[in-house]
Amino acid sequence: MNDQKVAIYNQCLEKLTGLLEGEHDEIVKMASITSVLHQSFEIFYWTGFYRMMAGELVIGPYQGTPACLRIAVGRGVCGTAAETGETQVVPDVHAFPGHIACDAASASEIVIPVRSGDEIIAVLDIDSTSKNSFDEIDSYYLEQISARFFR
Ligand code: SME
Repeated sequence: MNDQKVAIYNQCLEKLTGLLEGEHDEIVKMASITSVLHQSFEIFYWTGFYRMMAGELVIGPYQGTPACLRIAVGRGVCGTAAETGETQVVPDVHAFPGHIACDAASASEIVIPVRSGDEIIAVLDIDSTSKNSFDEIDSYYLEQISARFFR
């Protein structure tokens, strides 16, 4: 299971490195990362970015059901990742104080802060409909993706 997950993440990294070579536009990168990740993992129910715009998180490229458009920094899992600058792995979203339920089907979630230099420019949010879907393998590889394509 873990070996398979690592293999899929390595394939995603390889695919994205080829696809995004020489590309600088943030939206192009976010759209491509979203597509590759969402197509690669069956358990990814919602995959996408919220961009930091004028001090609040605003929906960016995503795949999945329609989601909340704007999230205040400090609110929910996304806002907590943006405020603390730390990846949030949430095994059960219903146990997370202040979780924002954009879709009642979501059960677990991971959110990675995306930086350009020292500045947080976005968060990458992935939801699953099962509890306990995300672990340190996901945080390691998603942080790698964020660092490789946005730093
Ligand atoms: N659950 C998130 C909101 C975004 S959706 O899951 C797409 C949160 O608590 O920040």
